[in-house]
Amino acid sequence: MNMIRVTSDNIKFIKELSQRYGFEVNRNWDKLLNEKDTEIYGLSERGRIIGFTGLIHNDWNETLQVLDIFIDPEARNKGYGKYIIDFLLNKAKGMDGYRCIIAEAPAKDGIDKFYGKLGFRKCGYNDRYYTNDDNGDIAVFMSYDLK
Ligand SMILES: CC(C)(COP(=O)(O)OP(=O)(O)OC[C@H]1O[C@@H](n2cnc3c(N)ncnc32)[C@H](O)[C@@H]1OP(=O)(O)O)[C@@H](O)C(=O)NCCC(=O)NCCS
Repeated sequence: MNMIRVTSDNIKFIKELSQRYGFEVNRNWDKLLNEKDTEIYGLSERGRIIGFTGLIHNDWNETLQVLDIFIDPEARNKGYGKYIIDFLLNKAKGMDGYRCIIAEAPAKDGIDKFYGKLGFRKCGYNDRYYTNDDNGDIAVFMSYDLK
């Protein structure tokens, strides 16, 4: 397996995963791809993209932000998520000028436990972050402190 940089040539594979599993379906991937502060990566396994992630560089507050992490449901619980996070952490550790990596996830999904296992700590909540007010979901923010 390996991580590949997503470009306009292969963004279609990310869009397909997103649509097939109803994950971030309203995201404008082409616009995101053109943001100069955003990098998107796909996880390739035997020539097939089975997951994706990205990093947003927020230079104003010296933080990196995880842009989603998604693994094909058929490939979960096999260590692929950890592989992606290790990749992002290695990249971040090789960069200067950033204090931490921030990840965010809906509290109800318990994804904070996934991040917790990988060295992140809880650093905040936001109960106005998501638009899905009807189910009362709140965002949990996790930080991997680089400094
Ligand atoms: C979260 C997600 C990326 C995890 O990917 P994965 O490949 O299944 O994770 P891994 O197999 O690498 O798991 C690493 C560790 O985290 C744990 N873990 C994984 N998902 C977990 C969850 N939902 N709750 C608690 N622990 C979890 C695993 O048990 C494993 O622990 P271990 O090392 O003690 O065995 C995947 O479930 C996913 O794509 N979810 C949907 C998208 C999403 O909600 N993304 C986060 C918000 S953007």
